[in-house]
Amino acid sequence: MKTGVSILGIFVADTAYLASRMPRIGETITGSGFSVGPGGKGSNQAVAAARAGSEVSFISRLGRDTFGEMALKTYAEAGVTPKIVQMDDLPTGAAFIYVNHENGENAIIVYPGAAGSIGVEDVEAARETIENSRVFVTQLEQPAAAAERALRIAHAAGVTTVFNPAPAEPFPESIFPLCDYIVPNETEAAALVGFPLPTQDDVRRAGDALLNKGVKTALITLGERGVLYHTEGHSVLVPAVASGPVIDTTGAGDAFVGGFSAALARGLSPVEAVRFGCATAGISVTRRGTAPAMPKLEEIEALLARGAAA
Ligand code: RIB
Ligand code: NA
Repeated sequence: MKTGVSILGIFVADTAYLASRMPRIGETITGSGFSVGPGGKGSNQAVAAARAGSEVSFISRLGRDTFGEMALKTYAEAGVTPKIVQMDDLPTGAAFIYVNHENGENAIIVYPGAAGSIGVEDVEAARETIENSRVFVTQLEQPAAAAERALRIAHAAGVTTVFNPAPAEPFPESIFPLCDYIVPNETEAAALVGFPLPTQDDVRRAGDALLNKGVKTALITLGERGVLYHTEGHSVLVPAVASGPVIDTTGAGDAFVGGFSAALARGLSPVEAVRFGCATAGISVTRRGTAPAMPKLEEIEALLARGAAA
């Protein structure tokens, strides 16, 4: 019987710097905070899905170093099953993250390190894990060839596929028909469809363009504007919710993808799963960091109940 969520992606150590603005070239500015913690989109999504109550396997590569140990400790604590190759000759990656200390906005440079060498052989080694899960999730921080192979295996086995095309890197068009759900943010959606999305009409047009490329359902995440659920004959904007003041939006997209996937694996309807994902993200933005900011199932359910009562 198929169960839980399997995720292919990368782990990196997030080094986050709080400041009032980005430095210009040649300039040094003084920041107001710093932290090091677990990050990487796929890894954040795995932690989010596990905390949201799902069985989760995470397929990746790490270095054999301090940051690699940070990753394994994170999975032991969150209850994520690691399907990981540790490399002797490549380091675990890291990300530079600027967080605006007034509004929580961010900008990121990510170096994937060992996870940049993930190939189709890693995916083949994890074939059974993928085939036995209810939902499979991947992104574009590791090579697209590995993402495509994994999506193909999942699709052929009748596993629900969730593709988060982040960061906005080029990938083969043959991936689109393998996607039950494609989950771009506004910038990524604009890059995929070739026009910007300032109005709600543009967002719907982008949804249509993604369906025309062969995906079953597009979920376009729009930050505080919510998430567009867009499929043949049904299009609805699910509003964003926040459980308190927004202090760090880094990893909010990962919280959404992880929460949404966990909810789908538990058998919630797609639109209910989108609401669940929005609540997961809405708690994560009130806390600093990415993986450490992911909420527990009880917290997500409490926020959803508050929304239903309002
Ligand atoms: O989506 C947020 C993540 O993107 C961060 O954790 C950072 O590591 C980058 O990969
Ligand atoms: Na956060």
